[in-house]
Amino acid sequence: MTVHIGAKPGDIAETVLMPGDPYRAKWAAETFLENAVCVNEVRGMLGFTGTWKGNRVTIHGSGMGMPSLSIYANELIRDYGAQTLIRIGSCGGMQDSVKVRDVIIAMTASSISTPSLGIFKEVNFAPCADWGLLKAAVAAAEAKGTPTHVGGIYSGDVFYDERPDLNEQMTRHGVLGVEMEAAELYNLAARYDRRALAVLTVSDHLLTGEALPSEDRERSFGDMVEIALEAAFA
Ligand code: HPA
Repeated sequence: MTVHIGAKPGDIAETVLMPGDPYRAKWAAETFLENAVCVNEVRGMLGFTGTWKGNRVTIHGSGMGMPSLSIYANELIRDYGAQTLIRIGSCGGMQDSVKVRDVIIAMTASSISTPSLGIFKEVNFAPCADWGLLKAAVAAAEAKGTPTHVGGIYSGDVFYDERPDLNEQMTRHGVLGVEMEAAELYNLAARYDRRALAVLTVSDHLLTGEALPSEDRERSFGDMVEIALEAAFA
């Protein structure tokens, strides 16, 4: 048990998928894992461990934003020995070529600040995905025929952004989408020598204002979970 995770030692698999939403963790575990058991419900942040094609997997919520993700990823890595951490979540599209329902696989994630800012100080550390996971995820997405984009994303600190000019600069610099967690996941993976990746579904679009209808969300989310699982065990 840690401060925020009630799981017993050994309850957490070496491979952890991290959606922001704890109820998505529940849905993904019930839909894709065999023999899924709930291993955490502290503060309603649900985590489940089961198997996928014989491989042990934990699917654990991260909460929204980097401070929340940092708490869970730190404890999963340092106290439970998680080796491979894949964020599965939604993002806002930032390029015309990126459509709602498409998948974005993040090579890197820009940010203004992350919980790691205190360590990096004046250095603009460039957090990056694990190459092996990224390559395997791209192969899995291509095999499924899912429209997929690979490139940089932006991990913002606010959903209701009072600085639209920042998003404009991100778009201008080719950033594919915006979410709120990946940069710190990549920072932590670098610090602790773990593998990390973010596989994201475009749920809304900053340029067009389009949003994924709720009835489509589950199926689009499912493609992303399968891509993450295939990548983890490639
Ligand atoms: N902004 C930030 N995070 C998000 C968005 C967004 O538009 N969509 C999904 N996650």
